[in-house]
Amino acid sequence: MNSNEIREKILKLKEEKKAIILAHYYQIPEIQDIADFVGDSLNLAQKAKETEAEMILFCGVHFMGETAKILNPNKKVIIPDLNAGCSLADSCKYNEFKKFKEQYPDHLVISYINCSAEIKTLSDIICTSGNAIQIVESLPKDQKIIFAPDKNLGGYINRLSGRNMVLWNGSCEVHELLTPEYVSKIKAESPDAILVAHPECNDSVLQLADFVGSTQAMIKHISNSENKHFLVATESGIVHKLKQDNPDKIFTIVTPNEGLVCNDCRHMKLNTMAKVLDSLENERYEIELSEYLISAAAKPINKMLDISKQLGILK
Ligand code: 13P
Ligand code: SF4
Repeated sequence: MNSNEIREKILKLKEEKKAIILAHYYQIPEIQDIADFVGDSLNLAQKAKETEAEMILFCGVHFMGETAKILNPNKKVIIPDLNAGCSLADSCKYNEFKKFKEQYPDHLVISYINCSAEIKTLSDIICTSGNAIQIVESLPKDQKIIFAPDKNLGGYINRLSGRNMVLWNGSCEVHELLTPEYVSKIKAESPDAILVAHPECNDSVLQLADFVGSTQAMIKHISNSENKHFLVATESGIVHKLKQDNPDKIFTIVTPNEGLVCNDCRHMKLNTMAKVLDSLENERYEIELSEYLISAAAKPINKMLDISKQLGILK
C-alpha cells in the first residue's frame, strides 16, 4: 500500500468507527495532518476530556493514552505502539516515589503530566508545561511542595517563583541533551535570531533563551513575533506547525551538537502511518487500567483542568 492509500484508509476507518485521532505536536507531519486535533499536553488532555467520539486513537506516548483513558473510562482508548514511553515517566517508579514522598509528610505533590497513572495516584495536582507556573503560584507562598518528575521544569519554577520545591531527579532525554556551549555557539552564529526554549531544557540553556514556554506557548510567541529567524530548543516535530503558521519565517532546530540534524524523541517517533492504520483496523493497543487507578488518578488531573479554567488558561 502506498502512503496515499494508507492515509485514505485511515480517514475512512476513522469515520466508520466514530473515532477521534488526537496527536501531539511531536508526531511526524503525516500523522499531524490526519489528526482531528493536534496539541500540546494541556490542550490534548482537555480535548480528551471533552470528546464525544466513541473511540480515541492517541498518537503520542503511553502516559498520554493513559490520561485520555482516565478522563474517559467508558471509551476505548488505543495507541499505535505500546513501546512509546517517556524518559520522564520511566524515571519515576511507584515504590521509589512513595518512599520519597514519605520523607516529606507535610508537602503537597505536584506532578508533571509526563508520569504514569500510578504516580498520578500519589499526586495532589497534575500540571503540564502550559500551566505549571500558574498552578504552583495558585498555592500559598509557604505551602511546601514536592515537584516530580522533571527537575528542569521544577528548577525553572523555583527560580521564577523564589520557592524551594523539593525536586524528583528526572529529566527529558531529548531536552536534557542540549548544552549551553553549543547553544551559545549557534546563537553567536545567528545574532539576529530569537532563541525559544522548552522548560524541560537545563537551566543553563534556559538562561540563554529569549523566550521560555510550553509547546503551545512557543507556537503562539513565534506567530506573534515580528522576527524572521528562530532558534528552537525543543523536539523537532514542532516545526511542522511552525511552518504551516509562518511560511515566511525560518526555523533552526537546536540540536545537542553539530552532527545531529534533528532533535527527535525516539518514543514519539515510534508512531508511523502504517501503525496508525493497524491500530484503527485491529482496535489495538488498548489502554486498560483498573477502576481504582482510574478514579484515583482522575482527581489530580481534574484538579489541574479546573484550576486552569479558573485561571483562564483553558476555556
Ligand atoms: P508540552 O506538550 O506540555 O509542551 O510537553 C512537551 C513534551 O515533552 C511532551 O512529552
Ligand atoms: Fe518524554 Fe521527552 Fe519524549 Fe516528551 S520528548 S515524550 S518528555 S522523552
